[in-house]
Amino acid sequence: MTSKALLAATALVALSLSLPATAAELTVGFSQIGSESGWRAAETSVSKTEATKRKVTLKIADAQQKQENQIKAIRSFIAQGVDAIFLAPVVSSGWDAVLKEAKEAKIPVVLLDRDIDPSGKELYLTAVTSDSVHEGAVAGEWLAKTVAGKACNVVELQGTVGASVATNRKKGFDSVVAKNANLKVVRSQTGDFTRAKGKEVMESFIKAEGGGKNICAVYAHNDDMMVGAIQAMKEAGLKPGKDILTVSIDAVPDIFKAIAAGEANATVELTPNMAGPALDAIMAYKAKGTVPPKWIQTESKLYTAADDPQKIYDSKKGLGY
Ligand code: AHR
Repeated sequence: MTSKALLAATALVALSLSLPATAAELTVGFSQIGSESGWRAAETSVSKTEATKRKVTLKIADAQQKQENQIKAIRSFIAQGVDAIFLAPVVSSGWDAVLKEAKEAKIPVVLLDRDIDPSGKELYLTAVTSDSVHEGAVAGEWLAKTVAGKACNVVELQGTVGASVATNRKKGFDSVVAKNANLKVVRSQTGDFTRAKGKEVMESFIKAEGGGKNICAVYAHNDDMMVGAIQAMKEAGLKPGKDILTVSIDAVPDIFKAIAAGEANATVELTPNMAGPALDAIMAYKAKGTVPPKWIQTESKLYTAADDPQKIYDSKKGLGY
């Protein structure tokens, strides 16, 4: 063999060693936030299913809502030499150092369902997320259309402080409020994306707003907080969905149950299948070097009582929510 041919053969062997031949050889570490909501539980369970479908080994680390745990998990995935890291970032800031470490280790990172600050843009391969500003705007447009010019005091249950989706869902809704003088956000507080906190904050809103008499609508950044708020309204003797309109985000089965019962009005869907597109992107990247688009956007669809909520509830309830 000539020295040229030997060099070429060595390069080929090196390449075949660095690129897994089949998906079965891929191991992906997923730093998941926790299980604060039904949507999050479904995302975890759908991720497992999607990985199994593609014969990818998925290692999930539950951070129990703490960024420090997510950073530890990422460092552990780097030490284990995984082929890729999926990250659902609990908050948007504070990722640069650890993502630089992943980049230096040549491990591609994919963001799932939440974004990070622009300073980290070069540190991840792609992000699979919805347009969360648009989600807030869809919720706002539904309310503006429903109240049709009538004065409407809105109370807002925000998601986790510092999470991209909380910032953006507020921004999108506020953009609609700014165009409709009849809509006014009279109270806005975090409910941390949980049912318990959503209920607790709604109870305080009801107390502060004349037993709920001064509230026309609740906007919640996720359905779980709305389910908690619905409970608070019922316990205060109010009729959610009638006395007070509701609009929230996620489209989890329980909100469809509430819509079917006339106790909720609208939800904007966020698919729990972020891992499927992320795995496809990583597999193509690893096998052929195909660089995915920087943003793989998922759909945001509005659902109301007109969409046969009972049927949707029945079709979704077994999906891990
Ligand atoms: O990042 C997505 C959000 O996180 C979901 O809307 C919410 O339910 C979850 O906790």
